[in-house]
Amino acid sequence: MSSLYIFGNWKMSQSLEEAETFVQSWDVQPNPLVEAAVFPSFPHLQSIKTYATQKNIPLKVGAQDCSTQESGAYTSQVSAQMIQELALDYILLGHSECRQAGDNEESLAKKLALVSKTHLIPVFCVGESLAEREGQKLKSRLKQQLSIIQTYKEPFILAYEPVWAIGTGKVATPQEIQEVHDFLHQELQRTPLLGVLYGGSVKPENAAEILALNGVEGLLIGGASLEYESFKKILEIALKTKEST
Ligand code: PGA
Repeated sequence: MSSLYIFGNWKMSQSLEEAETFVQSWDVQPNPLVEAAVFPSFPHLQSIKTYATQKNIPLKVGAQDCSTQESGAYTSQVSAQMIQELALDYILLGHSECRQAGDNEESLAKKLALVSKTHLIPVFCVGESLAEREGQKLKSRLKQQLSIIQTYKEPFILAYEPVWAIGTGKVATPQEIQEVHDFLHQELQRTPLLGVLYGGSVKPENAAEILALNGVEGLLIGGASLEYESFKKILEIALKTKEST
């Protein structure tokens, strides 16, 4: 039986002390039914990864992005290879906040090509804006975003995050999530897909309803993943969901 992925995207929201307090608080027993991961910002990655490894904490660690370039004179950039050197597990690619800052299909194809040379598993994010949804462009927009991951030969995770639901408190309805997850699974049938996550204003109060949906194999959580107790509650809900199926 595959596990549910419960992933916390910490964005640029925490100080080093807050990130370290989170992992130092960890008291969840390892369980093969639920896999937890967090995505701290670049300067915190090494500290969080080292602490989790040394203390045997069942928590995977991923980076939030990487450069389109392999190496060289690219001031401020961080390469996929540098991230791999930290022995991390995952890398987020195509998060809507990165897309708003300039990521597009061309840059993401370059990043994916570089990530494919590492052991990092991409968590590739897709999602439509409210204007695209209201303009009947939901599926065409998703198809466009999927086009570059459909040819990816290594295992990957997909995260569906409607842009209008991220950080807004507006969650997609179960019907909306179900419809898109069915569509995504259909589009990705012949790929080494590990699972499709939902993200966008997930919190302990709505996690059970979302995780109960068919084809939702986990959650990508922003705001509600910053506090350890709130993230832990979602992990417990995921475990209950998995145990009851
Ligand atoms: P949110 O963020 O849970 O705060 O809406 C989700 C994300 O951006 O991954």
